[in-house]
Amino acid sequence: MEPKHLKIDQLDFEILISHRELDKRVTELADQISLDYQGKVPIFVGVLNGAIIFLSDLIRKLTVECEIDFIKISSYGNKRISSGAITMIKDFSADLHGRDIIVVEDIVDSGLSVAYLKKRIESMKPASVKFVSLLVKKDCAVVPLNIDYMGFEIENKFVVGYGLDVAQKKRNLKAIYQIKE
Ligand code: IMP
Ligand code: MG
Repeated sequence: MEPKHLKIDQLDFEILISHRELDKRVTELADQISLDYQGKVPIFVGVLNGAIIFLSDLIRKLTVECEIDFIKISSYGNKRISSGAITMIKDFSADLHGRDIIVVEDIVDSGLSVAYLKKRIESMKPASVKFVSLLVKKDCAVVPLNIDYMGFEIENKFVVGYGLDVAQKKRNLKAIYQIKE
């Protein structure tokens, strides 16, 4: 079993979602996606770096064929408040034209990243584009959210683990931990 409490850089964290709960929910999402994409070969686009753990667990539970690709964008720099200005650090490698695209996010906060990606992907004329996010922070969106598959809705508090970082570290925690205030 994973620890219930953690201290990271003098900050106290407590467990929010155990590895077991994550595994159960990821299985449910994979089952739903497999059902919705029967006979298709979607491209899963992981948003680096946070989505890699979720994406790798999710695609191994699918029963449909799939391809993967990755993009990296930056929105905040080091600040916790979004500047609204998003820059592309690593662009798509795959040709998205005419394909079914499923963007995989670790967490949606302001929704600005998702809005930016949706616009950019639509300009590449895919057959379809949907979004899956493991976590969505409640009442944070500053733009309308279009999340087709959502793992968990959480409070507006900082979380870490299962891909999510604190200053680039702790992505390899098996569970998700929330900051204690
Ligand atoms: P937004 O939806 O454009 O505001 O950006 C979401 C991105 O911010 C996510 O992909 C994460 O990289 C990052 N992020 C937001 N909240 C957290 C958090 O609580 N922990 C770690 N990263 C976060
Ligand atoms: Mg991210």
